[in-house]
Amino acid sequence: MNDRRPPRRDTAEPHRRAEAAASHAARREGDPPRERWPVILENQPNADYALIDSGDGEKLEQYGPYRIVRPEAQALWRRALGNAEWRKADAVFTGDTDEEGLGRWRFPGPPLGETWPMRHDGIDYLGRFTSFRHVGVFPEQAAHWAHMEGQIRTAGRKVRVLNLFGYTGLASLVAARAGAEVTHIDASKKAIGWARENQERAGLSDRPIRWICEDAALFVEREIRRGSRYDIVLLDPPAYGRGPKGEVWQLFDNLPAMVDLCRDVLSDRPLALVLTAYAIRASFLAFHTLVRDAFAGMGGTVESGELVIREKAAGRALSTSMFSRWVA
Ligand SMILES: C[S@@+](CC[C@H](N)C(=O)[O-])C[C@H]1O[C@@H](n2cnc3c(N)ncnc32)[C@H](O)[C@@H]1O
Repeated sequence: MNDRRPPRRDTAEPHRRAEAAASHAARREGDPPRERWPVILENQPNADYALIDSGDGEKLEQYGPYRIVRPEAQALWRRALGNAEWRKADAVFTGDTDEEGLGRWRFPGPPLGETWPMRHDGIDYLGRFTSFRHVGVFPEQAAHWAHMEGQIRTAGRKVRVLNLFGYTGLASLVAARAGAEVTHIDASKKAIGWARENQERAGLSDRPIRWICEDAALFVEREIRRGSRYDIVLLDPPAYGRGPKGEVWQLFDNLPAMVDLCRDVLSDRPLALVLTAYAIRASFLAFHTLVRDAFAGMGGTVESGELVIREKAAGRALSTSMFSRWVA
């Protein structure tokens, strides 16, 4: 993960957007894909991960062997469970120092190490306490992984997957296990290291995954020039970030050109483009409209909505992010 953050802006200044627009392709010809919205994709509590309870600005989650408490601004309601349950937490994110890593976590019981064993649907990997409050996985993404896995398994041919902003690599591992050839891109050497470690831990070292530390947009541009194409593209950009050489990523400035590039890097038998966006002020309809416009003439369907996690204690739905996906 990257510290050298550009200043946070949830909206691009109009002239910067216009400049960015001038540098990419003209509006696509043809009918827009069919559409379906709102689509709410849910993650139910399961043996690997569960949102146990939420409320009062926090969430209580079970990640493999550990119970973890983290801030959750959207939990505007009251907790369903009493303090006794919340006090059983193994780790609480405090965020009260600027230092990296474990210092930002409090361990009410015995101090824990930085990583711990986790599993997703039979794939072993490592959970980890990071200074960004993240724990090395975004469990709500499981809905996208299951969808992608189905597409890969039923394609009846070798499927090539491009995972952009791939972080710790869970999506790459799910795709590789299903039989895909995977290219995983992330700007952070550290994240690539974690992802490789997860590949080994999952026992998938023999699977074809290329782990590449590079700026996502530059990589896709190069692939297009080289004639290298993919059947599925996963696009999970942060609101802001930096490429390895300091290239600035600002979602509102750079996403339109990126979606265009993703269309151009799709093969002639494409299966899907899956875009997810977190922690920004926008409606899923903004992404829906962008993808539908950029995929005009491609046929298929664009479906968009939110990824939510269903809580165990009182069955409430906690929204985590917005998504838009084009499916052939
Ligand atoms: C954590 S994931 C995305 C998860 C989720 N969308 C979020 O915003 O929290 C973001 C990943 O993008 C990577 N990243 C940031 N800027 C990048 C860039 N310009 N090119 C490639 N990867 C980048 C980060 O290193 C990180 O691993």
